[in-house]
Amino acid sequence: MGSQFGDEVLEGDGFRLSPLNSGDIEDVASACRDKTTQRWLPLPTPYTADAARAFIEDIAPEMHTSGAGLVRRIGIAGRLCGVIDLKKTDWLVRQTEIGYWVAPWARGCGLAGKASRVLADWALSDQNMARVVIHCATGNKASQKAAVSAGFIHEGVARSGGFVHSGRVDLAVFSKISSDLELA
Ligand SMILES: CC(C)(COP(=O)(O)OP(=O)(O)OC[C@H]1O[C@@H](n2cnc3c(N)ncnc32)[C@H](O)[C@@H]1OP(=O)(O)O)[C@@H](O)C(=O)NCCC(=O)NCCS
Repeated sequence: MGSQFGDEVLEGDGFRLSPLNSGDIEDVASACRDKTTQRWLPLPTPYTADAARAFIEDIAPEMHTSGAGLVRRIGIAGRLCGVIDLKKTDWLVRQTEIGYWVAPWARGCGLAGKASRVLADWALSDQNMARVVIHCATGNKASQKAAVSAGFIHEGVARSGGFVHSGRVDLAVFSKISSDLELA
């Protein structure tokens, strides 16, 4: 097993996790300009089409080739409905971290939790990861519910563990480990 994730397309129930492409630039820019996305993720402000293009064409491929992680579009019937990634991967510890946003036009259906379950279970069962974590600001209730619905366990709070545009935040720490799959 190498120190780079596989690049295959993952199928969920009614959605698909696949590489972003240049046709996603406008949807990524629009979703990343959204007020809720900007509230919880420290993305560039304003979020321009050029920022989306750089993310899709440079940053995401580099994350894969460097071994740092893997970026996937969450697609439903071909339309981009969100982005989920594996990041900050430690191949020695065999730990990686999931991050996500769901586009405003696709929220309210639990998509982040469903996509996190598919990606985490694949990382644990097929990609030699022992532990997958999700970190959410303690105020971000929708994201915490997504982590729980994906089968992650709340471990505690990393005080002042992250930052958003409005300042530093405490992070709720969730994890899923290999043996959680056996229990399920
Ligand atoms: C977090 C996010 C990905 C969740 O999107 P989603 O999968 O469509 O989630 P839903 O809207 O279906 O909500 C999931 C759950 O949270 C609940 N919820 C939604 N908004 C909420 C709020 N403001 N307060 C409390 N609960 C909320 C929903 O009722 C649902 O509960 P249920 O599981 O009991 O049905 C989405 O809100 C988003 O993109 N936010 C901005 C980016 C972000 O926060 N990323 C995560 C950073 S850690």
